[in-house]
Amino acid sequence: MDDELDALFEAAREAAASAYAPYSRYPVGAALRARSGRVHSGCNVENAAYPQGTCAEAGAIAAMALAGDREIAEVVVFGPGGDLATPCGGCRQKLREFAAPNTEIHVADSGGVRATFTLADLLPHSFGPDNLRDADPPKGGKP
Ligand code: THU
Repeated sequence: MDDELDALFEAAREAAASAYAPYSRYPVGAALRARSGRVHSGCNVENAAYPQGTCAEAGAIAAMALAGDREIAEVVVFGPGGDLATPCGGCRQKLREFAAPNTEIHVADSGGVRATFTLADLLPHSFGPDNLRDADPPKGGKP
């Protein structure tokens, strides 16, 4: 691993240690390196009302936005092992907002990075900000 990826891996591993996952017992940490070079991380935070739980990626994206960054350069998602902790569908879309199709998303566990995907691998033909920008202006219809 290069030094930058190593640092991102460590940030994701540390974040997973703060996960609040009493229901699934599946702690996850996510770390994003922004274009600025800064690293932002988050963990999953579950809830007794199960659907209100949030994923690690969502926490990391919120931290990134709060810090003023808007472009994701690289991602590590750290899970507890076994099958890969690949981002869920909703998180793929959340990442899509701030990442490019070729942005790398590494999936890791305590053994290190297990797999690397691009965002386009995980979310082909995605819908993002450009789709809205490039749309034809609405014809008729009430606002
Ligand atoms: N989870 C994440 O935080 N990120 C992922 O990429 C996959 C799943 C969380 C949601 C839930 O708290 C737990 O893992 C089990 O699904």
